Amino acid sequence: MKHLGVNIDHIATLRNARGELHPDPVNAAKFVKKVGADSITIHLREDRRHIKDIDVKKICSFRRKLPVNLEISTNQKIVDIALKYKPNYICIVPENRKEVTTEGGLNLKKNKKKIKKILSRFKKKNIRTSLFINPSIDDIKISNELDVDCVEIHTGKLANLVKSKKNFSKELTRIKKCSVEAHKLAIEVHAGHGLDYKTTKILSRIKLIKEFNIGHFVIGESIFDGFNKVIKNFKHILKK
Ligand code: PXP
Repeated sequence: MKHLGVNIDHIATLRNARGELHPDPVNAAKFVKKVGADSITIHLREDRRHIKDIDVKKICSFRRKLPVNLEISTNQKIVDIALKYKPNYICIVPENRKEVTTEGGLNLKKNKKKIKKILSRFKKKNIRTSLFINPSIDDIKISNELDVDCVEIHTGKLANLVKSKKNFSKELTRIKKCSVEAHKLAIEVHAGHGLDYKTTKILSRIKLIKEFNIGHFVIGESIFDGFNKVIKNFKHILKK
């Protein structure tokens, strides 16, 4: 059974638009658990554009009931906050101040040393580690050298090709090959970014992908159908 991680950053985006307390991402985390999510994903960005430190603290406080996957950059202060609140999982992602969203995977070659040090700090606390990477065999090999538990493959390119009705078979093959290579090296494979029902259905054919982390579409579609129905629809797709 594939796992569904629901990214609730955009509940915080909506809350912050008014500078008040509603809608509360902490309530959203409790609710998505109730309706079937396997884990909750939040990204503490350096600019705090959505999730704030207090959200991380509160959401991590019920990590025994629902696994919390905290996305972080390699920024020292953010790493220290993550270690303080001890989520169940961390995923290291690239961060660029001007981007609207995480636009690609990590540059592992350039940041290998830095990432290795960060990973070892989390491993010492028994926190599952993951790296957000592009679908590249080289990056799978470097991930193995870094001894990470999981890789999350950035599916943004595939999602854009599918949405613009372009040929996506090369990109899908690339993701498949990376999944096989990672699996051979005993690295668990996850997928995320830009996913909706259609792209999740396409990727769920790759049986080696064990976890899907989905945010923007879940929140957007829930305006029409409600969290309950949207999460159940994704769980149904991932069952096959
Ligand atoms: N996984 C990772 C590592 C991410 O950084 C993000 C979004 O920032 C997602 C998944 C979710 O992407 P989306 O909101 O496009 O579903």
